Amino acid sequence: MTVAEPVPTSASAPLPPLAARARSIGGSPVRDILAVTARPEVINFAGGLPAPELFDQEGVAAAFRDVLAETPGRALQYSTTEGEPGLRAALAARMALRGLATDADDVLVTTGSQQALSLLATVLLEPGDTVLVERPCYLAALQAFGFAGARVVAVPGDEEGLDPEALEELVIRERPKLLYTVPTFQNPTGRTLPAERRAAVASVAARRGLWIIEDDPYGELRFEGERVPWIASYEEARDRVVLLGSFSKVMAPGLRLGWLRAPGELRRACVVAKQAADLHTATVNQLAAARYLADRDLDAHVGRVAGVYRERRDAMLGGLPEALPAGSTWTRPEGGMFLWARLPSSYDTTELLGRVVRHDVAYVPGAPFYAGEPDRSTLRLCFVTQTPGEIGEGLRRLGEGLRG
Ligand SMILES: Cc1ncc(COP(=O)(O)O)c(C=O)c1O
Repeated sequence: MTVAEPVPTSASAPLPPLAARARSIGGSPVRDILAVTARPEVINFAGGLPAPELFDQEGVAAAFRDVLAETPGRALQYSTTEGEPGLRAALAARMALRGLATDADDVLVTTGSQQALSLLATVLLEPGDTVLVERPCYLAALQAFGFAGARVVAVPGDEEGLDPEALEELVIRERPKLLYTVPTFQNPTGRTLPAERRAAVASVAARRGLWIIEDDPYGELRFEGERVPWIASYEEARDRVVLLGSFSKVMAPGLRLGWLRAPGELRRACVVAKQAADLHTATVNQLAAARYLADRDLDAHVGRVAGVYRERRDAMLGGLPEALPAGSTWTRPEGGMFLWARLPSSYDTTELLGRVVRHDVAYVPGAPFYAGEPDRSTLRLCFVTQTPGEIGEGLRRLGEGLRG
């Protein structure tokens, strides 16, 4: 019997390298540590996962059953890049109901709002263009802008969110193309930008020439306080605000359904970019979501979820004074999924994570959320995935881990 000789690797010519933008995105030590939090005994405040027991499994299953039984040829077929007309119309009607006049044609359905971010980065940004973001900022937005080769600059702010005066100074100095903001129940801080600041941000964009991406996956998860109007609803900036929405936090993230509402030329460019990316978002998921909206009461469902999330937020707020070292401060979000803590400046939450995870609890260190100089004493906690009892136990472990 003859055995084939393996080809010596030294005979192989080297492969051409990855693109520079892919090479620059390295591994992350934080991701390596957080990988161990998949162990079932870990109480994981790090993931941004909606509570799975609150998914309306029955309602979503019925919507899929109905569209597959009644229109299987359509549900399983290719669709248009812009999205299923019935879903676009329903999304437009929901926005109009919340005070933002919208036509179905203004809406592009996306594969999660994360895809909307990549599409916008593709069609708006040249390598080297400047993007302004909040300090701190949603991590995967930093990634999307980084992939496009953008220079990302953080706008200073305070506990209410970004500071419009600082924004205007940066716009004058840095000549950015766009501002990316999550004004309501921000990821990672949970803070909400007040209406006066929204008006001021819209005014800066109008006067100084700036696109705004207003990302709002959490706005409907309000537990208390008054709804604040979208930046997109201020007349001055109507032609330059892109509003992003998502079913991930109000229906289910596995559906991968998001949308963008954008002015004509920009939206048409996003349609072409989306065609190149994935042709269209899954037809069956779009039809099922439209069916769900027609047959069920999504707002009532979201109200139930928000009621449970409120109890969980309160459980976390109740346990933090005992868990965090003296001198720590934290946000008190009126909705959403996250809160943000700042420990005394001698603490480095990235360094401490390994030790804390050994106590079977996890958070996300704050540093990766910063464009530019990070505040290393900060951390993000997700308060919605565990029950109040588990949150109490998790905070007890966190306290132990931080005390060493
Ligand atoms: C601020 C923000 N934008 C966008 C996304 C992406 O959501 P989607 O599941 O719609 O892609 C998230 C997810 O956590 C988020 O926090």
